[in-house]
Amino acid sequence: MKLLVINGPNLNMLGIREKHLYGTQTYDALCQYILGKAQELGIEAELFQSNHEGAIVDKIQAAYGTMDGIIINPAAYTHTSVAILDALKAVSLPAAEVHLTDTSKREPFRQISYAGMACQAHFIGLGFEGYGKALEWMKAHIPASNG
Ligand code: DQA
Repeated sequence: MKLLVINGPNLNMLGIREKHLYGTQTYDALCQYILGKAQELGIEAELFQSNHEGAIVDKIQAAYGTMDGIIINPAAYTHTSVAILDALKAVSLPAAEVHLTDTSKREPFRQISYAGMACQAHFIGLGFEGYGKALEWMKAHIPASNG
């Protein structure tokens, strides 16, 4: 099973940005966590981070026919991007939404998730563990014939 894990804008600044919200661990540490968990589950994970909406749309489109599922933390684009929602709908792959923080307890503008409308599972406010839970969800929901 091959999964694409997408992280949106400013997540490369983990460990530096708003530590009271996002903690002190870096994006590299997040990548190591995801790759370690994926290996444990026998999943091949490709990691992608971008600060650019169009690059994220391109990456989602490229997953069509090459990936078995998408785990996505679109970061701020969660709350603004119909383009990312449409891309997820277009490829129609199993998709899981992850957020490090509990967006439901934050500002009103974070209450809407466009990308989340195309996701079948949501792991919100669990920190790094949300990505681990998303990998487990994919393993449980994608047929084993996909390798
Ligand atoms: C985030 C929540 C978003 O509202 C915010 O813009 C982010 C990170 C999270 O993981 O908690 O950049 O997606």
